[in-house]
Amino acid sequence: MCGIVGYVGARSAQDVVIEGLRRMEYRGYDSAGIALVADGTLAVDKRAGKLANLEKAIDESPLPASTIGIGHTRWATHGAPTDVNAHPHLGSHRRLAVVHNGIIENFAALRDRIEDEGITVVSETDTEIAAHLLELQLESGEDLTTAMQRVCSRLEGAFTLVAVDAQDPDRVVAARRNSPLVVGLGEGENFLGSDVAAFIEHTREALELGQDQVVTITREGVEVTGFDGSPAEGTQYHVDWDLSAAEKDGHDWFMRKEIFEQPRAVADSLLGRMGADGLLQLDEVRLSDDELRDIDKIIIIACGTSFYAGMVAKYAIEHWCRIPVEVELASEFRYRDPILNYSTLVVAISQSGETADTLQAIRHARVQKSKVLAICNTNGSTIPRESDAVIYTHAGPEIGVASTKGFLTQLVACYLLALYLAQVKGTRYGDEINQIVRQLEAMPAHIQDVLDRADEVYALAREYVDATSVLFLGRHAGYPVALEGALKLKELAYLHAEGFAAGELKHGPIALVDEGLPVLCVVPSRGRDQLHDKMVSGIQEVRARGARTLCLAEVGDTAIEPYADVLFRLPKVPTLLQPLVATVPLQLFACELATAKGHDVDQPRNLAKSVTVE
Ligand code: F6R
Repeated sequence: MCGIVGYVGARSAQDVVIEGLRRMEYRGYDSAGIALVADGTLAVDKRAGKLANLEKAIDESPLPASTIGIGHTRWATHGAPTDVNAHPHLGSHRRLAVVHNGIIENFAALRDRIEDEGITVVSETDTEIAAHLLELQLESGEDLTTAMQRVCSRLEGAFTLVAVDAQDPDRVVAARRNSPLVVGLGEGENFLGSDVAAFIEHTREALELGQDQVVTITREGVEVTGFDGSPAEGTQYHVDWDLSAAEKDGHDWFMRKEIFEQPRAVADSLLGRMGADGLLQLDEVRLSDDELRDIDKIIIIACGTSFYAGMVAKYAIEHWCRIPVEVELASEFRYRDPILNYSTLVVAISQSGETADTLQAIRHARVQKSKVLAICNTNGSTIPRESDAVIYTHAGPEIGVASTKGFLTQLVACYLLALYLAQVKGTRYGDEINQIVRQLEAMPAHIQDVLDRADEVYALAREYVDATSVLFLGRHAGYPVALEGALKLKELAYLHAEGFAAGELKHGPIALVDEGLPVLCVVPSRGRDQLHDKMVSGIQEVRARGARTLCLAEVGDTAIEPYADVLFRLPKVPTLLQPLVATVPLQLFACELATAKGHDVDQPRNLAKSVTVE
């Protein structure tokens, strides 16, 4: 999830672009860059690190005056956050500059074709491929609009591209497919941005584009077409948000915005994982099939929410791959003298990639000769750098301190890892793996279905503004969901909340239940095992003792109806994948309850986004 800005008008493009990037920095901040068209050439600067690094470089070595340009602030997906990988990317004749947000799934095949034409690819990014393809089209005599239409028709994946041509000082051309892009409409000037925050200090008139559309902005106007060149129209609207709301896409908190971004984040984390041969491919896993086949034990280490993702991973890996899995709190791991050797795979899950407990744990594992695979959302952070292999999640930067989209995308990475191991070890057939991947691909729509009913959850949450305690129950993969729901409530609403495996209730915790206690129950999907029925019995037990049962249960589950004081319907999905949908109402619940209590949801007291001390 990167931030993109484009401008053509009469002002200094450098000022407009840099200011826009400052407003976009919350979308990504591991590198930034700018390209201006001046006197038939491109003036480009791009730097790893925060936008301040780029600004300093431009101060020291000023760019020529220009009134047309593009800019980018990056959250790395393909390639580490370095100067070379920073955007804009250029064609080999430096005629074309492009910035990009998203993932071009077929970039490897396209790169091979480009290299066959004798072009040297200098970065590790998928974006550079688009730069070369666009420049080749320009060199064949096409204008930038036509070139963009042609190139986009060849790209697979999700992308926003914004480009300028050194020989055309009058137009900026952009395209989108499943990735954000809005046009800002001015007088004698026009703007492009990943969202309206990029330009609302200049204009509040915006144009929303549809999927698979190309837009050309000039000083005089805006023209929209489909990828096939057919005329199209955007939808014009007036932006009445202030700047802070614009950054949050109209939400009150970054956390709420991030909860609503989850369908996209999950879809992005799944992009590019199936090869043309129908086999699952995890490009970033740098362990050979032989090394993976030799693994006879997996230890997952993580903290907090990431630890709960690890608990779900245990269910998935043991079920699909038949490899024993231990899940260990990173802070406890090395102090218990764990038994590790070269055939143990240690999986470190960390959204930030900087958590000190997890980092120390992987260092300990590597000293014991174990291979370490990181699941991480932050390209170039310490944990993936010190690991043997990595699967990056594609959540984009998470600004709210409490993890939401980070967690859901970690779950996706865990499922993919489990399926990949099953494929390599041959414990599941290809057809079965493909079917599960298809079920995963359906999850963004299911998550959206839950989000569309957020108001139901909000109304419920507001009833509990004076609650002193809330319990969460789950079984199987729903147990970590219960723990995560309780953690969210603790950290945001500062409320006593505990998650239990429902079967454990009668071994002690049921003593906590008294009249009116809210108990949130994650009811497993109805399957062939007895999990669902056992959960229903547990719910009956707490209700008989006066608890108010707030149940999350799949559509069509009628058995739960007599025992649910409140029923929120979940889409019908397999129990193992249910955490992807069941977590969402719990996030919404905690966010709304904390808001009703007047808390700072994005920065809860005493907490930090990345915990870099042990
Ligand atoms: C809770 C939360 C934390 C983190 C934990 C690990 O909402 O965000 O519990 O999950 O501090 O952080 P990472 O995943 O960055 O290692």
